[in-house]
Amino acid sequence: MAFIVAIDGPAGTGKSTITKLISEKLNLLNINTGIIYRCITLECLNKNVTVNELEKIDDILKNIKIEIRHIGKQDQIFLNNENVTSRIRFKDVDSNVAKYAALKIVRDKATPITRKMAENNDVILEGRDIGTVVFPNADVKIFLDCSEAERANRRYKQNIENGINNLTYEEVLENIKQRNKLETEREIAPLVKAEDAIYIDTTNLKIEEVVNKIVNIIKEKRSY
Ligand code: DC
Repeated sequence: MAFIVAIDGPAGTGKSTITKLISEKLNLLNINTGIIYRCITLECLNKNVTVNELEKIDDILKNIKIEIRHIGKQDQIFLNNENVTSRIRFKDVDSNVAKYAALKIVRDKATPITRKMAENNDVILEGRDIGTVVFPNADVKIFLDCSEAERANRRYKQNIENGINNLTYEEVLENIKQRNKLETEREIAPLVKAEDAIYIDTTNLKIEEVVNKIVNIIKEKRSY
């Protein structure tokens, strides 16, 4: 039986960095499920299909091919055979993805894609609904959290490091609050801690401290 670790939580908790480090330490396949929603959003934007055009979205979903190629240090994301690893991080995708991710037809497609990607592997998956919807029987479930102020602070610093200087701290904080509202209040698969998930507040913790905590939890559960 494959071993499954589910890491859920809002953006800005260090989820991606933490998941990647744990996957390397414990030799688990790393699946960042946000990329599936980002690819679907990009394809809709490319085809000028809005969130209200459900039939057109359905057509797009019927033919879409999303792949994570685990090449070298950084996973490469392919949408219909095109490398979109950087493109899915652009602002247009960023500001629209939460709307597409709230649609039932989109989630009904993304969930089986995720399960397929994980099939027959020992995996660590990060997202919003892994422990609640995608793998409710995961061996380890972690819910990462962090104060909104600290999440904004981290995102603001990250933006500056990446040469993005057009947003003030207050704007970044406002974006985070809005996104959180959309994700936690959506009807389908809202961002919520699974009852049996272990809650970790990362506000005052260093990345390594969180990684070590989770690695120890996994090692206790995984007997091989
Ligand atoms: O983790 P991220 O920021 O790359 O996620 C992109 C979007 O997809 C974000 O709006 C949350 C959504 N998402 C989701 O609804 N369910 C998941 N399992 C993963 C991401």
